[in-house]
Amino acid sequence: MEKREELYAGKAKSVYKTDNPDRFILEFRDDTSAFDGEKKEQLSRKGMVNNKFNAFVMEKLEAAGVPTHFEGLLSSTESIVKKLDMIPVECVVRNISAGSLCRRIGVEEGLELTPSTYELFLKNDALHDPMVNESLAVSFGWASAAELERMKQLTYQVNDVLKALFDDAGMLLVDYKLEFGRSGGEIVLGDEFSPDGCRIWDKETRKKMDKDRFRQGLGDVIETYEEVGRRLGIQFD
Ligand code: TMP
Ligand code: ASP
Repeated sequence: MEKREELYAGKAKSVYKTDNPDRFILEFRDDTSAFDGEKKEQLSRKGMVNNKFNAFVMEKLEAAGVPTHFEGLLSSTESIVKKLDMIPVECVVRNISAGSLCRRIGVEEGLELTPSTYELFLKNDALHDPMVNESLAVSFGWASAAELERMKQLTYQVNDVLKALFDDAGMLLVDYKLEFGRSGGEIVLGDEFSPDGCRIWDKETRKKMDKDRFRQGLGDVIETYEEVGRRLGIQFD
């Protein structure tokens, strides 16, 4: 596959065109960002770790029947993905209270949420990803009601698969964010799944093992991402 011009550079990943109009190359960089780009750093090995982490999770999800854009690894920091028409809405499921939920409604961190909560956020850094809902998404034409229903169903299906996967490896999947797009009339999981876009705690000690280590300056960010991966059985370089 021939790598062509860069189409888009996000805060941590870049997207490249290829000689196949239906395939892109997703490059995972070492750039790390938090608070919508306010805190930025380069963390060595992060691109490789997140690329391999994402490949492992996307393959598990595909195997469980979740359609994903992931096609395969191209190099240690690049993957081949399907071209999607992205929907600018982030889907968040929470199993345990943390992060913006605690700030927004004044609850303590660590409360078990039953049933798991589901929230939508508009992908817009300048506005700090404001919370939205299905009604706004339909009225502004971001997605149809049927597409939003499918996104919700898939986001909860991902929860069933990944909660069990992390639990078996001694970890709690606290919350996570997914992004979807359209391909051939179908809703398909896009973007990535890595410790950058979810919260993972050790089951026994509740040690934070995700990007909160970077956000909160807890140290050992990539070492801990690799520990999560190793527990799941992922081999890094
Ligand atoms: P929050 O607590 O900041 O709302 O985030 C909930 C989860 O979703 C957390 O695991 C981080 C992830 N997330 C992102 O990765 N990017 C985003 O832009 C948002 C809104 C959430
Ligand atoms: N992903 C967003 C950023 O990079 C939000 C965050 O993780 O805090 O800025």
